Amino acid sequence: MSKVGIIGAGNVGGMAATWIAGLGLADVVLIDKGSGRAEGKAMDINDALAILGSDRWVEGGSDYSLLEGADVVVITAGFPRKPGMSREDLLRANVGIIDEVLENARPQVSPDCVWIFVTNPLDVITAVGYRRLGVDRHKVIGMGVNLDSSRMVNQVSALTGMARSSISAMVIGRHGQGMIPLVESVSLSGVPFPLPNDVGEEVREKTVNRGAEIVKAFGTGSAYVAPGAGVFQVVRALLSGEGQVLPLSVWLEGEYGIEGGCIGVPVRVSHLAWEEVVEVDLPRETLRALREGASGVVSALRSLGL
Ligand code: APR
Repeated sequence: MSKVGIIGAGNVGGMAATWIAGLGLADVVLIDKGSGRAEGKAMDINDALAILGSDRWVEGGSDYSLLEGADVVVITAGFPRKPGMSREDLLRANVGIIDEVLENARPQVSPDCVWIFVTNPLDVITAVGYRRLGVDRHKVIGMGVNLDSSRMVNQVSALTGMARSSISAMVIGRHGQGMIPLVESVSLSGVPFPLPNDVGEEVREKTVNRGAEIVKAFGTGSAYVAPGAGVFQVVRALLSGEGQVLPLSVWLEGEYGIEGGCIGVPVRVSHLAWEEVVEVDLPRETLRALREGASGVVSALRSLGL
């Protein structure tokens, strides 16, 4: 049975563990520095698994040796956004946490381990993680624009009345205000579904602002149910190795004309690694926005001395 480690047993980490173990994908170890938090969450989730009829187990603790044998490590440790705060505001605080987490986690796992970053600001944190880990770039993934793509599907469904299961939509670019919903490329079961301009604009705006809308409604903390499902989606693709294409943040080396920096692009996922960046034809403006997003990530890395 596969094993997934999740560092950060807060809202997103707990929900990711629930989806992964609850839907039978893998056993999970939850690690947190908070006293008792990971243990308590593991107990709570295991009790739910008995109701759901899943035979997977979740174990929790603060000892990083729990990670031994993990195929995938997911990092959700960090502060979430507060109302009015951008993901970038979180950068410095969360980089410190990521450094500490990687230092503890790295010695516990094999070089084949896949690292999924969830902590915001996502693309910069993923790039920091890639640099710090020094592993093959195909082993480092940022989870963000696949979540935004699900949000986009919901907006298209709400505005057009089409069932969400028939809608295919993708968001690329940075997981943040600079994300790029590909409103011109929405399809219905593979058939192009051009949206009228005003509908396309509304889909774009509501997709970009969905995370902030949830933060505002909550008053404290940010979304976690769909982010947890987003982690599940990436882990499932990595464990099945069936070649699923997902929009993910990865380190680019020339793809889309981008040298360095992590940014969300369509990626083919194979068994325990991402295989290749799928280079599709993008309108010139879109390509320009994607490159701008990547250069913002590179600037942030420089500001951190990386
Ligand atoms: N080592 C281990 N765990 C840590 C550390 C650390 N150095 N620092 C913080 N944590 C843990 C906290 O104890 C907490 O349990 O990370 C967890 C974060 O959980 P929440 O505060 O509930 O935040 P959450 O909503 O899960 O978001 C986590 O994911 O989507 C992103 O923007 C979000 O960056 C944020 C991250």
